[in-house]
Amino acid sequence: MKVFSANLDNLRKLYINQLQMLLSTEQQITEALPKMIEKAQDVQLRQAFQSHLQETNGHVQRLEQILGSVAGEAKAVKCKVMAALVTETEDMVKDAADENVRDAALIAAAQRVEHYEIASYGAVRHWAQLLGEKQDAELLDKTIKEEGHADHLLTEISTG
Ligand SMILES: [Fe+2]
Ligand SMILES: [Fe+2]
Repeated sequence: MKVFSANLDNLRKLYINQLQMLLSTEQQITEALPKMIEKAQDVQLRQAFQSHLQETNGHVQRLEQILGSVAGEAKAVKCKVMAALVTETEDMVKDAADENVRDAALIAAAQRVEHYEIASYGAVRHWAQLLGEKQDAELLDKTIKEEGHADHLLTEISTG
């Protein structure tokens, strides 16, 4: 896709808006993960959620840092997708008939979230590069790698 210099101001608006939405995404995850840790039975799964909660706090900080520099303030714009994913997770957990099935539901729900994050961060990392925000792109890349690692770990836990 070609982005011309005349489009860059508009692209920057989209970039900032999507970063604000991602901040809301990550904030919602920091609230959802402690509940998921409580519901998880498998020790490895609990640990995976626990360590990703710590990483997620770092994702929030990176977004606050980037937004502070590109927009002057770190304001969140509600991410409706994440709100829907949280609701669906709660439904799946509630409907699970036993502990193993509940863990399977938690893994499925968490992997949906990771894929959503990877797709969203992939777009903003690309836009950061187009906008010449090299440092932002590097920070966003670090987050994407941690989301990818979390996703792979969940696959290992579910198949192991
Ligand atoms: Fe994240
Ligand atoms: Fe994540």
